[in-house]
Amino acid sequence: MNYPFWNVDIGYGVLMASIAVIHVFVSHFAIGGGLYLVVAETLARRNQDDEKLNLLKKLSKFFVLVSVVFGALTGVGIWFIIGLLNPGATEVLIHNYVWGWATEWTMFITEIAASILYYYGWKHMSGRNHIIIGWIYFIAAWGSLFVINGIITFMLTPGEWIQTGNFWDGFFNPTFWSTLWLRTGVCIMLAGLYSLLVLSREKASDFKVSMVRFNAIWGLAGLLIIVPTMYWYWHVIPQTITDTALKMMPTPIKSLTASFWNVGAIALLLIVFGFIIPRRLHFIAALVIMLLGLSWFGHFEWMRESIRKPYVITDYMYGNAVEVSKKDVYKKQGYLSEIKIRTGDDGKDLFLHSCRTCHTLDGYKPLKPAFNGTDKAFIKSIVLGAHKLKGNMPPFWGTKKEAGLIADHIYKQVDQRDLATIYGLSGQALGAKVYEVRCNRCHEIGGYNDKSEALLTGATEESLGMILDMAGELAPEMPAFTGNAQEKKALIEYLLTVKE
Ligand code: HEC
Ligand code: HEC
Repeated sequence: MNYPFWNVDIGYGVLMASIAVIHVFVSHFAIGGGLYLVVAETLARRNQDDEKLNLLKKLSKFFVLVSVVFGALTGVGIWFIIGLLNPGATEVLIHNYVWGWATEWTMFITEIAASILYYYGWKHMSGRNHIIIGWIYFIAAWGSLFVINGIITFMLTPGEWIQTGNFWDGFFNPTFWSTLWLRTGVCIMLAGLYSLLVLSREKASDFKVSMVRFNAIWGLAGLLIIVPTMYWYWHVIPQTITDTALKMMPTPIKSLTASFWNVGAIALLLIVFGFIIPRRLHFIAALVIMLLGLSWFGHFEWMRESIRKPYVITDYMYGNAVEVSKKDVYKKQGYLSEIKIRTGDDGKDLFLHSCRTCHTLDGYKPLKPAFNGTDKAFIKSIVLGAHKLKGNMPPFWGTKKEAGLIADHIYKQVDQRDLATIYGLSGQALGAKVYEVRCNRCHEIGGYNDKSEALLTGATEESLGMILDMAGELAPEMPAFTGNAQEKKALIEYLLTVKE
């Protein structure tokens, strides 16, 4: 914890996602665009098809502008943001991959130079030289994907690197190849979808029909690569990661389901508009196909990021920058002594460095609503049992006393009235609320880590009362029941109705 915490009132997940999403869209576009342009140009020159060459000239403007301006700006933007959000993880990436980054930047500069030459070369270069420059543009762009892919996949599946610390072990990690081909498929698909969009504005003609078909083939070819490589990718991720993700987190499941629907819809629309009614390809239809493509890609990236929790680098560093290898030190000496730059408020410092990377108090993934109407002892138990909650959170590695300091810090800011007053509830409805706040995050009835069978088989008012009285002794991470008498009575009433 050598860095201060950048504490401004925004959800860091959302901030990161918004810039990263723009960057990955744009960069994959630029790569696919490079390949599309040279292949299509070669074919057009062979057939001396001037109409097609004109269209390509138009397209190359977009691909060049996009890769140069947007690609570069958002790429630098990502570094800027991750450096602020997680300086610890950024430091690990820079130290391990200095030469990787240097190679990537060389590729990127080559890509930019070649793309500018390509764009301006339409007028002045011979066809042959122009195509050569086009290939240089594409190969450099794909080369930068190759390099960056080794670094991004490393974060989810560092593989042997954890033991060896060897650059190549981290780079050619278990998900390197599947993701490289998957992303190449994405590049090809997006190039096809974007070109369809441009083409949809041309007036209906035989030229349009043949080009729509050509572009639909690009889209479908991309999909044809994406589907099996996605399957491959999912199966080379260690099963402990995928199993935990599916069990503990709602996000990856939602993203995966959405991405299957997207693939189906894109394929269907491409077949219909590409081969059955190409003449009728309207701007709106092309836009819908394009948005579905981006939506698929967005869901893929979201899923990829979400299954990495609770880590930022699997088995090496947690999302809140706690290094796994230091956990025993923290447990003994406390976490506070490791935080170099302090605000003067210990509870706040611990909160910032343990929870704030992922939660705000009342904005994005807010903690206040989760703790309104509870008490310090309960919040402390949740800090200590964080890894048992649904959501796949990192464990808290500090001492119990430090957990208490975090609880004090949070408690100061929550609504301290009891649940009945805050929500205006009583009886069974109050009981349901008590369950939601005090139990449901670790035991969903009929869902995650369900305990209703142990709790409810043959349950009576007395037996439930006894269980709640000794709740704190049932398991190390299980909080004692610290609600008031009215809440306890209501919870029992509610549980008895669940039983029926
Ligand atoms: C690496 C990210 C991460 C860190 C660090 C983290 N959490 Fe979480 N937390 C999550 C996620 C993800 C969820 C699931 C909520 C969701 O899916 O929106 C969650 C859920 C929760 C919930 C349940 C919220 C609800 O409304 O159901 C509580 C309470 C909570 N966290 C407390 C904490 C505390 C206290 C800390 C610090 C000791 C902490 N978390 C650190 C990611 C994190
Ligand atoms: C911080 C997470 C957490 C919260 C909150 C929590 N529990 Fe638990 N509970 C656990 C853990 C951990 C275990 C034991 C290991 C396991 O199976 O996960 C457990 C076990 C149980 C068991 C089974 C005991 C046995 O012997 O099989 C019951 C019943 C139970 N909890 C009820 C509740 C009730 C009721 C509440 C709300 C008042 C609650 N728990 C709140 C974490 C929690």
